[in-house]
Amino acid sequence: MIGNDLETARENLPSHVAIIMDGNGRWAEKRGLLRYFGHDAGMKAMTEIVRYASDMGIGYLSVYAFSTENWKRSEEEVSGIFKLLLIYVDKELDELHRNNCKVNILGDTTGMSRIVLKALEKVREKTKGNTGMIFNICLGYGGRAELARAARSLAGKVADGTIAPGEIDEDAITDALYTGGMPDPDLLIRPGGEKRLSNFMLWQCAYTEFVFCETLWPDFTKEDFDKAITEYEARKRRFGGRK
Ligand code: IPE
Ligand code: IPE
Ligand code: MG
Repeated sequence: MIGNDLETARENLPSHVAIIMDGNGRWAEKRGLLRYFGHDAGMKAMTEIVRYASDMGIGYLSVYAFSTENWKRSEEEVSGIFKLLLIYVDKELDELHRNNCKVNILGDTTGMSRIVLKALEKVREKTKGNTGMIFNICLGYGGRAELARAARSLAGKVADGTIAPGEIDEDAITDALYTGGMPDPDLLIRPGGEKRLSNFMLWQCAYTEFVFCETLWPDFTKEDFDKAITEYEARKRRFGGRK
């Protein structure tokens, strides 16, 4: 098993890896194809990396699949992305389950069709008892919207007397996020050449290590994933303290 070999070879595997899967459109445009085919190729890359990360023993994998801002794209592109997501879920659910992965959908599902919501609920429900890798698919996700939602939830608790204003501390905010109960990402990988967060996990990435690469997401391979992990392992994390 390649995964087990890797696991024993690695000393300092990140517990939580996040990926901003970027570059699908450019990948397609370079080939004279419709953007849809870039998203299709991106789903294939995702399938491979999810499998690999799970075999490697990664505890949490979060992928940024569709942002709150991505709703600004054409209706044709958006519906293509959700159609591909349905195909992915339909094809991969059994394998994800066999691999003991627990799938969470993080984000605001407002605006998604009933058929998409039903498929997402099916994946969540089927894998909810699994104890292997936690696979977070961030969909309709935005870091600012997530923080605003957490603020509303905490304000509601203050209003109904469940908590006092003074109890709103960093832990309370952390717990009120979609990622409540999970560790912050140790490593964030952004393929596609852009060096920005694009509203991804703003709170959670306070001390995350970033690895950017030029490779467009559909071309991103297991070897690229390995390279990012190796780079992470060589980093010295200080969290503001001193060694
Ligand atoms: C990432 O690829 C996928 C989504 C944002 C849904 P893009 O579609 O952003 O690809 P580029 O950045 O235009 O190449
Ligand atoms: C970030 O990529 C969102 C996802 C990968 C889902 P974008 O392509 O939307 O980000 P910008 O517009 O380049 O910042
Ligand atoms: Mg992009």
